[in-house]
Amino acid sequence: MERIRKVALQAIREAGALLKKGFGEEQIVHFKGEIDIVTERDRRSEALIRETILREFPDHSILGEEKGRHEGSGQYRWIIDPLDGTTNYAHGFPFFAVAVAVEKGGEVIYGSVYDPLREELYEAERGGGASLNGEPIRVSGIKELTKALLATGFPYDVRKGGEDNITHFVNFLKVAQAVRRPGSACLDLCYVANGRFDGFWEPKLHPWDMAAGNVIVQEAGGTVTDFRGGRFDVYGQEMVASNGLLHEAMLQVITQGLE
Ligand code: IPD
Ligand code: CA
Ligand code: CA
Repeated sequence: MERIRKVALQAIREAGALLKKGFGEEQIVHFKGEIDIVTERDRRSEALIRETILREFPDHSILGEEKGRHEGSGQYRWIIDPLDGTTNYAHGFPFFAVAVAVEKGGEVIYGSVYDPLREELYEAERGGGASLNGEPIRVSGIKELTKALLATGFPYDVRKGGEDNITHFVNFLKVAQAVRRPGSACLDLCYVANGRFDGFWEPKLHPWDMAAGNVIVQEAGGTVTDFRGGRFDVYGQEMVASNGLLHEAMLQVITQGLE
């Protein structure tokens, strides 16, 4: 695990430096969908992370948002979001991060998330606690939704309807102290882990949005499930993450909005 940590930290620090250097400049943007964009920096960040991993672990598998799957012969799979918060980044809005996680046997065993602008590095190893810049972190102690600051996000196909999260958003708005839509799911989860947020939910996420943050929240003492309170699956599409104390209340609000 020490070698995995070392490589992960090297990869996200280098990728973070690349993103920080280009932040605020005009970005070269390509469209994956009507409002789903990717910048050249997303691609360069992922290429850099993949190179670093494969140089050290040529038999490991990789699942990255922009370059897809690489199937290795080993039992470890790295899950990479080279730039979480691309829309923010492209607009010069300072809230984005790089995330890597390692999965083995369907379970995420390691995750790290780096916010290069604030120089905040979150990390967790399954069973080993969670940290921010090396200091242990813990979820908040807020017990009631009416005192809770929550975060969420909306899928890129929000214009199509379906599970667009709007009903849940309105329902939470009426019972929480406040709800935010920061634009970087993996960083939202780290903020649950260190108590800046008390809870987070979002439908239609991808493994790279959730993998690192999931283990960081759990190791910080929080709870992570799917929308019905079932076991969290990194290859599922939805998650509810909380300080644990608010979990049942959050699930109740979500159930109310499910068809
Ligand atoms: C997105 C962000 C956003 C969330 C979206 C994600 P990206 O990731 O995490 O907060 O609401 O669902 O797709 O595209 O910036 O890597
Ligand atoms: Ca993402
Ligand atoms: Ca991304």
